[in-house]
Amino acid sequence: MTDRALPPLAHLLGLDTLPADRIRALLDDAQALLPHARGGTALREVLHGRTVCTLFFEPSTRTRSSFHVAAKRLGADVLNFNVATSSTTKGETAADTMRNLEAMGVDAFVVRAAQDGAVAALAQQARPDTHFVNAGDGRSHHPTQGLLDMLTLRQAKGADFGKLTVLIVGDVRHSRVARSDLHALRALGAGEIRVCGPTTLLPGAAELEGCRVGADLDAMLDGVDAVMMLRLQRERMEEGLVPSLDGYFRDYGLDARRLALARPDAVVLHPGPMNRGVEIADEVADGPQSRVLQQVTNGVAVRMAVLRAVLGA
Ligand code: NCD
Repeated sequence: MTDRALPPLAHLLGLDTLPADRIRALLDDAQALLPHARGGTALREVLHGRTVCTLFFEPSTRTRSSFHVAAKRLGADVLNFNVATSSTTKGETAADTMRNLEAMGVDAFVVRAAQDGAVAALAQQARPDTHFVNAGDGRSHHPTQGLLDMLTLRQAKGADFGKLTVLIVGDVRHSRVARSDLHALRALGAGEIRVCGPTTLLPGAAELEGCRVGADLDAMLDGVDAVMMLRLQRERMEEGLVPSLDGYFRDYGLDARRLALARPDAVVLHPGPMNRGVEIADEVADGPQSRVLQQVTNGVAVRMAVLRAVLGA
């Protein structure tokens, strides 16, 4: 099914409110758009005359650039709002900033913010015909990352998620990526979801309901089809949650010896930015089972699908 067969999507704020058929339709669209993700002008009419603004209150490499590229591939005008050199440094609120950009004719905002719920709050303060895509808020949601991770898994393992055992490793507690992945994996009916990390970096039991949870990475790797590694989010941590980075790598770092405990055809994902030698070894990050750069290309296709869905073209 194509996403355009479904009712228009006003915003994409999280995957928790997205029914499974909508997630599948967005993945189908993204797969169909993939040949256009790395270049070409064939789709420049799709969002011609529409304006997309990326409004990032936190740093970003992949997410911001890939939204920019996605909007351009579809022919939109793109405004990259730079918070660091803007009047937000003079105390202007996010809502006032957004309303001013809206007054310049922005049709859709792609927003990243440090506070949980901040993107949904901005959407409520905007005009009813302005669209919002959450590019990561606090620890809560990163819906397009969740979608691109599912697209990457589907390409590697097929569409029947019921057959899959997926392991998420690391700093789940601070990770909006992990939360969006968990929503999507549950919606798509993943056969078994495992979560591994030090107890200081795991969320409360309610969020991990239905998952197999453990602290012994070697044991948790046995028989998995996919390993989703996470960055240690030190900027969101209180002191002392991780005693030492060397110790973290020893206990939770993915190296070639450990990866050999998974199924031989297991794939490795990481949303980036990778801390090499902290959560992942070079030999794995750059090895044949890594899908890290494929995730990035898929990210452009997913963001094309999402922008087309919200802008209703
Ligand atoms: C993630 C983020 O910012 O949430 N990065 C990304 O968008 N690819 C993950 C991270 O920062 O660790």
